Amino acid sequence: MDYLRIAVTDRCNLRCFYCMPAEGIQYLPKKELMSYEEILRVTQNLAELGVKKIRITGGEPFLRKDLMQLLRKITEIDGITSLNLTTNGVLTYPHLKELKEIGIDHINLSLDSLDKQNFFAITRRDEYNKVMQTLDGLLDHGIKTKINMVVMNGRNEHEIQAMAKLTKNKNISVRFIEEMPFNGSDDQNAKIFSAQDILDELKHHYPALQKIAQEPNSPSTAYQIPDYAGSLGIIAAYTRSFCGTCNRIRLTATGSIKNCLYDEGVLDVKGILRTGISDEALKETFIQTVQRKEVNGFVAEINRQKNTQITESMSTIGG
Ligand code: GTP
Ligand code: 5AD
Ligand code: SF4
Repeated sequence: MDYLRIAVTDRCNLRCFYCMPAEGIQYLPKKELMSYEEILRVTQNLAELGVKKIRITGGEPFLRKDLMQLLRKITEIDGITSLNLTTNGVLTYPHLKELKEIGIDHINLSLDSLDKQNFFAITRRDEYNKVMQTLDGLLDHGIKTKINMVVMNGRNEHEIQAMAKLTKNKNISVRFIEEMPFNGSDDQNAKIFSAQDILDELKHHYPALQKIAQEPNSPSTAYQIPDYAGSLGIIAAYTRSFCGTCNRIRLTATGSIKNCLYDEGVLDVKGILRTGISDEALKETFIQTVQRKEVNGFVAEINRQKNTQITESMSTIGG
């Protein structure tokens, strides 16, 4: 268990309909968010227990004030060897130089369409140009980039080929993600365009597609089109579970620890921090919480098979 995903805000400047309703979600009052001091304390204590990799998510992380200050402080924590970010790219471009300077050299960019009109149809916001500027900027700054494309039946599966083609001359990874339905999104009854459907579509256009070695603990199965500079990945987020190789814990924007995307939150860490707990007691609580992961994970797998939906927006959980 060495990978902590931290959602720094539940706010977002897009309205992707698989994530939120058009009117947005009821955002948390500020005092219910984890403060930066609290986030750093959790990270410090988990680093002492062996966490090495951090991913900052949201909502959209750059909507949180002074994010760069938090990132800088996380890079100073002993034991954290990898700090990553998942962003929608709307506000990211002006920060790229500084991100690179402080050593954030991997960024995952959520991008579901390369077509301006379709981007608007999916995100309900007219921010396509800024996101494309971020994509170009990421490459110019030599930041390793993964594009996350959630594939939605009838909405963007026709763009799979164009997305894959981005890897022809660019050394990026394009990952196609199965849509996970959850209560509260505007797309609950969608017929899933499955990982198998995605693979079939890729093979149809690229019969020479090759499976390649995947990163350890990654939910993504990796592929490459021969002679292309970049790689492809398929994340079967809905039809498969990754419980067996899962090394992730999550800190939600509301200050809950989740052992699994599908659990309801197994520790109110914000609450216990605000009671004035010592670092020793906090670490002991973390150990006990994470040891329950196996049980929670198993429940998660049953829930998944029964088609139990995630109840919170991805914007609060952090994906
Ligand atoms: P890397 O560190 O680059 O491997 O990133 P990542 O894949 O861990 O993070 P990212 O934020 O890019 O998430 C990509 C997608 O993977 C998420 O949106 C989810 O759809 C999926 N995913 C990640 N972890 C889990 C998990 O534990 N369960 C399920 N079902 N899906 C997951
Ligand atoms: N299904 C699959 N992926 C989702 N994401 C957000 N909501 C969903 C969903 N319902 C993805 C985003 C982002 C990642 C962190 O989670 O596109 O890339
Ligand atoms: Fe879209 Fe991500 Fe924002 Fe949700 S949090 S609306 S998926 S950009």
